[in-house]
Amino acid sequence: MALDLLVTGATLADGRAGIDIGIKDGRIAEIGPVVHGQAERTLDAAGRLVVPPFVDSHFHMDATLSLGLPRLNRSGTLLEGIALWGELKPLLTEEAVVERALAYVDLAVAQGIGAIRSHVDVCDPKLTGVRGLLKVREIVAPYLTLQLVAFPQDGLYRYPGARDLLLQALDMGVDVIGGIPHFERTMAEGTASVTDLCTLATERGLMIDLHCDETDDPLSRHIEAYAAEVQRHGLGGRATASHLTSMHSMDNYYASKLLPLIAESGMNVIANPLINIAIQGRHDAYPKRRGLTRVPEMLEQGIPVALGHDCVMDPWYSLGSGDMLDVAHMAIHALHMTSVDAMTACLDAVTTTPAAILQLEDYGLAVGCNADLVILDAADPVDAIRTKAARLHVLRRGKVIAGSPPRRATLALPGRPDAVSWSRPTAG
Ligand code: FE2
Repeated sequence: MALDLLVTGATLADGRAGIDIGIKDGRIAEIGPVVHGQAERTLDAAGRLVVPPFVDSHFHMDATLSLGLPRLNRSGTLLEGIALWGELKPLLTEEAVVERALAYVDLAVAQGIGAIRSHVDVCDPKLTGVRGLLKVREIVAPYLTLQLVAFPQDGLYRYPGARDLLLQALDMGVDVIGGIPHFERTMAEGTASVTDLCTLATERGLMIDLHCDETDDPLSRHIEAYAAEVQRHGLGGRATASHLTSMHSMDNYYASKLLPLIAESGMNVIANPLINIAIQGRHDAYPKRRGLTRVPEMLEQGIPVALGHDCVMDPWYSLGSGDMLDVAHMAIHALHMTSVDAMTACLDAVTTTPAAILQLEDYGLAVGCNADLVILDAADPVDAIRTKAARLHVLRRGKVIAGSPPRRATLALPGRPDAVSWSRPTAG
């Protein structure tokens, strides 16, 4: 077979080494230690780790890169962030949303992100963010898969007209149903919003992803109703609960009942370690809670858990760089996931698991899948996360669309090498 490109000498995340990947017409035609096809061009991975693209399953692209508009979040708190977004929202223009989102996508794609699920605020009578991001979804389609969630940020019932605006956004082509039960005025209204939105997802045959219990209040238990509704409607893997930070503070006995209920429902979970380690526990004296959801316990129960970036340089978070290895790095530290298996699971949580949650078609390193891959300057998953390894080559549909040089520093010390490298020597 005549191949378009042959990637040689790849190490895969499962430990297989010396793997060649034959690419034809934008898809993986062959993969293994022996590839029979002849290629016009080759790209030598030289023993480095090759992964399918990073997938950011939880992001807010309508707010990204707006840092400083109309002013900075001086306190760095969630409350000032919410107030700031309220000030910025009426000032948004479609053009500015598009411009900032495109700039962010450039940054994300350069770092090997191939797909993003972005929530977009529908609590705006003009739906400026929705209009802007629908445009962006189309523009970036050749190099990034963008999935949009209709997110009633100020509450489905709390913000006047939010439900109609959400329906309007779905009619305009937004992909996924969103919600924020813990932000409704009462627990009862929160629960009612969960039922309402799950029914809507069932009627429309859509995926659903709720911001759920993003609070330190251990009695914020909307996830219980959500899991029950997901099961009742048979939504399974079409449903996702994002954040779930109240679970950090819940009574352990109650959590021991809740975790199997979530597992039984077949739903997914997305944790956002960078944001929640910074935002949760703010009312605490010492000791201060970390506030992340119970990721290792969820994985033990077989619940699919992905890690999202959530925010980059916006009213809620002044930091962030579009690097999913940075997200995995924080998860390892903040969740005590330092066993070898847990660290590797954190790479899955920014690649294969979120790809399944987003229901991406033809994703992965297997014959027939899209030839989308990232060659990292790392020997294995732990090394990749440790060094936030350079993305040497980023391929989309078999074509190199981005790349970065290896991370190096020059040294000027007598008797020492003239450069230091972050990468671990590869075996052989
Ligand atoms: Fe979020």
